[in-house]
Amino acid sequence: MLNDEMRTQLIETAILARRWAYCPYSKYAVGAALLTASGKIYDGVNIENAAYPSGICAERVAIFKAVSEGEREFEAIVVLTENGGSPCGACRQVIAEFGVETLVILADKDGHVVQEAPLREFLPGAFTPKSLS
Ligand code: THU
Repeated sequence: MLNDEMRTQLIETAILARRWAYCPYSKYAVGAALLTASGKIYDGVNIENAAYPSGICAERVAIFKAVSEGEREFEAIVVLTENGGSPCGACRQVIAEFGVETLVILADKDGHVVQEAPLREFLPGAFTPKSLS
């Protein structure tokens, strides 16, 4: 379970990370903070590109950073935007890959939580590694 102290730490991490969002095209800065089962926090920001489809979302940056360092179990991810916007479908799918119980916390730019639910509620009937077995 995610305690209040850790929830606050994740939100603060996402607020700080969001400063580094590279989003000259959309101007929609996103900060993410991912808590691993081992207790580490990985942050991420959206990184856009002049060739638009080459950009990537903040959630996937955080997850790919973590996975590239050997982490595969995730407790929670905070996604922090101007308006508490919802994760895109591709990010929902990538979170689902590592567990549909991962808690997804959406927060606005001031760190106010606007929605909080396990990934399975954001992506019902997800196609996961189990679907291939
Ligand atoms: N974005 C994210 O970083 N995460 C999401 O889940 C939704 C969208 C980014 C992608 C792009 O840089 C900007 O927000 C506008 O779509």
